[in-house]
Amino acid sequence: MDAKDRILDEKYRFAKELVAEAGDFLRQHLHDDLEIEEKTDFTDLVTHLDRQVQADMTQKILSRYPDDVIYGEESVNLQPLNQGAVWVIDPIDGTNNFVAQKTDFAVILAYLEDGQGQFGLIYDVMNDELYHGGGSFPVCLNQEVLPKYEEKPFHQGLIGMSAGLFHQEKPNFRHFALQSLGTRSYGSAGLSFCHVLTGRLMAHVTHVYPWDFVAAGILGQPLGYSLVRPDGSQPTYEGREYLLFVPTSKLEEVKGYLSQ
Ligand code: IPD
Ligand code: CA
Ligand code: CA
Repeated sequence: MDAKDRILDEKYRFAKELVAEAGDFLRQHLHDDLEIEEKTDFTDLVTHLDRQVQADMTQKILSRYPDDVIYGEESVNLQPLNQGAVWVIDPIDGTNNFVAQKTDFAVILAYLEDGQGQFGLIYDVMNDELYHGGGSFPVCLNQEVLPKYEEKPFHQGLIGMSAGLFHQEKPNFRHFALQSLGTRSYGSAGLSFCHVLTGRLMAHVTHVYPWDFVAAGILGQPLGYSLVRPDGSQPTYEGREYLLFVPTSKLEEVKGYLSQ
């Protein structure tokens, strides 16, 4: 193993510790009184624990790797994602679930070098399930290596989709969803992507920011999944965008449903 690989290996082990510590912290503070703020509207919440988790992760990363860059949901200034060593953080994905249900939320972390995904982690905190790997690492759920996508007809699979998207006409998410076995809505983009990785969902369609989806894209690629815009093009990584997480072998079929 050369020095570069050794550093990457060390960063991957460190990343797993970071998300495990963030998860422990959130479980310990689950029943604290929350300071809740609305961001864009009353459905878009942030708590003091979102900010605290990102601040703690940032401090730990930068004290060990001072030249690296943080791209986090709660960051004030966002640096470009495609230059240098960048850690992408969503400290609590599914904040509304965290506030209202105390379950079904995740900590998401991804690591990129000059825009190339090196590994991704999505931690289902309350189920203690860590999805991790991608790049040069096997994709695992805790200690188990996940199998690649196994082919089945589109109409035998479920689609992850929120009610809002179902009613949108362009792209035709409704027509797309009606070709499937049914829709499910989990309230966490990260966990919905994980349900695709394990085959519980055939696909997930969502409206997300880079901190929501970069880890999933890295995890999905080796297992045969693509993360693309409804026309099949690559994400722009600029702001919020509509994305599909689907088996690569189903892309043409899905594009057909969406364009009707
Ligand atoms: C949100 C959740 C939600 C998705 C939104 C995301 P947050 O993340 O993943 O399921 O529909 O697009 O912004 O704000 O809870 O980190
Ligand atoms: Ca999120
Ligand atoms: Ca978040």
